[in-house]
Amino acid sequence: MSVTSPSPISTTLAGIPLAAPILLAAGASGTLDEMADVLDLSRVGGVISKSITRLNRDGNPTWRILPSRSGLGMLNAIGLANPGIDAFLTDYLPRSAAMPCAVICSVAGFSVDDYVIVAEKLDAWRNPPAATNTSSRTRIDAIELNVSCPNVKAGCDFGSTPAALSELIQAVRPVVKSAKLIIKLSPWPVGLPDLARAAIDSGADALTISNTMPAMEIDVHTRAPRLAHRTGGLSGPSIHPIAVKLVHDVYAKVCRDAKVPIIGAGGVSTWEDAAEFILAGATCVQIGTALFADPRVPLKIAKGLDRWVREQRVSNIAELVGAVKP
Ligand SMILES: Cc1cc2nc3c(=O)[nH]c(=O)nc-3n(C[C@H](O)[C@H](O)[C@H](O)COP(=O)(O)O)c2cc1C
Repeated sequence: MSVTSPSPISTTLAGIPLAAPILLAAGASGTLDEMADVLDLSRVGGVISKSITRLNRDGNPTWRILPSRSGLGMLNAIGLANPGIDAFLTDYLPRSAAMPCAVICSVAGFSVDDYVIVAEKLDAWRNPPAATNTSSRTRIDAIELNVSCPNVKAGCDFGSTPAALSELIQAVRPVVKSAKLIIKLSPWPVGLPDLARAAIDSGADALTISNTMPAMEIDVHTRAPRLAHRTGGLSGPSIHPIAVKLVHDVYAKVCRDAKVPIIGAGGVSTWEDAAEFILAGATCVQIGTALFADPRVPLKIAKGLDRWVREQRVSNIAELVGAVKP
């Protein structure tokens, strides 16, 4: 009988088992499971759905996604285009039962009620009344609240002050009865530890740090903003060092002692980027923009992390979380 040793990069996120510390980021991998066409999802930790709102949305006019002029990232103002919660429940979520990885549903809204309604419908789908057939309905491991979308007119400002964030989470927490609750925080360079503390005190099981950075590019010949929405969010390699510092600060000031895991997001395109996030204090990472250039990059990153963990002479990647030298 052959005994296979546990993978050194398997880990857990707030109790959710992950085959690798890698999640496909919201909005960069289709609505839910479309990446399964090109990627063996059993080799990533999980998939995060597109942010789902109460009603369906067409999003912003084009251009709404562009390579940034630096060549080191992407500028987008998609505007939360998504099918809406009712169509998501009927047309997409039933497929989650067959997904061989963690399934995380991202939720966005324009009022506290919006978030509560969508989260409640997701949780009810996960936990139908006992009389109904539950066999294919249990694949929502977590709900990620997107409180930080810079690309819609009304803005998503719930992530901008500790008070607004607490009010939102305290309203949503009671309706998310069994799935884990992840809060995706805005990339505020100042005051992020206070927001993190407010999210944890209000019931967050994990924090995602962070989202795209608010940004703008202008066509100097036409003098017009390059995005139809005028401004958008910058993602990709150019934001990675900023995101590493945000993770480092929040881990050192809040999450290490609170024992609440951080998911590092921003510019991961190589295994070294992912390893940096882990050393700064992240338990796992998200990959977004890099999927557009190479949808199979998560497999390369998983392979590189596996080699790195062995090289570092530890038995599991969890031992390297926050292990940057003082
Ligand atoms: C085209 C595009 C669409 C996105 N849509 C969403 C979304 O619906 N919800 C969300 O929380 N984040 C969304 N994001 C942000 C990503 O999930 C991720 O946080 C961000 O891009 C930083 O990671 P990256 O540099 O690896 O792309 C989107 C990003 C891109 C590039």
